[in-house]
Amino acid sequence: MRYLPIVRLQPGMALGQDIYDGEGRMLLARHFILSKEHIENLDNYGFPGVYIDDEFTAGTEIEQVLSPEIKCRVLKLVHDFFLKEEHTPETEEEEIRELILDVVRDILSDGDVMYNMMDLKNYDEYVYFHSVNVATLAAVIGAHYGMSEYELKVLTTAALLHDIGKKFVKVDVLNARRSLTEEEKRLVLQHPKLGYEFLKRNYNFDPDVCEGVLGHHEWYNGEGYPLRRSGEDISIYARIVKIADVYDAMTSKRPYHDAMSPSDAVEYIMAMNESEFDPKIVDVFLKWVTVYPVGCEVELSDGRRAVVLENFHDFLLRPKVKVLESGEIINLLSDQDARSITITKLAV
Ligand SMILES: [Fe+2]
Repeated sequence: MRYLPIVRLQPGMALGQDIYDGEGRMLLARHFILSKEHIENLDNYGFPGVYIDDEFTAGTEIEQVLSPEIKCRVLKLVHDFFLKEEHTPETEEEEIRELILDVVRDILSDGDVMYNMMDLKNYDEYVYFHSVNVATLAAVIGAHYGMSEYELKVLTTAALLHDIGKKFVKVDVLNARRSLTEEEKRLVLQHPKLGYEFLKRNYNFDPDVCEGVLGHHEWYNGEGYPLRRSGEDISIYARIVKIADVYDAMTSKRPYHDAMSPSDAVEYIMAMNESEFDPKIVDVFLKWVTVYPVGCEVELSDGRRAVVLENFHDFLLRPKVKVLESGEIINLLSDQDARSITITKLAV
């Protein structure tokens, strides 16, 4: 299975993974053979790329952090929660609790769980995919940070609902390509607070869930918003949600920017270590979030191109790859002859 940007898809290729919309409904199933029309539809729908099955990478499976079944349920829940005008807090809370427990147990069931893939999301339904990704990534980071199951439930709930305050900001303001008026800017900057107040007023979540939502745009050095808290004064939940939020936002296509490659987003996070992000969280992030996801094409320092087959945590810059022209498999971590070869860039 390998990842290809939409522009490189050809009719006749077989999908390597199911594709869902932002409501968790399956659009196309794995093994489906793409026609020209389907490729155009995927493009129009705003999917930047998809996984396909091919001979070259046969046998390479992408380890999914969340099972597709759970992921669909979470998408549906977030979708409805964002759009609902009339809330039924007790029922919703129960639903969220149950689902979060499934998410956390799913993640904990694999002790070596790595965030290792390109997400298949479309551009229009960004906020739902984004909420689910931030929850998943935050849970992976929290698990490797050593959080207990209870703490992971708090963290994952905060991460899933981190942007719920955007419910109260108009979509055309959130997606504006123009510069915002002062009043609009003020409102956007208020979204952590609006979310915090909405949850606090209507729901009975652990107070740390609300703190996680409130602090997700604070910077470790105190330059964030809305309260300009710094260091350990920012809730640990918010510090983890923050890094997951930035990573997923940067690697997504938005009205005002193209999707950045995972390797460039990781570079940014390294550059902002200790200013924007808590170094303890960055440490964990760098060990478990891949720079070159499995199935993606990379460029090697000797000019060859290869597809990533497997990642090794702690050594994410040196995965096992398969060279495109020759089919040669190189383990950049352990092959003695490959010591001088490095990956120069991700080609997606
Ligand atoms: Fe936010």
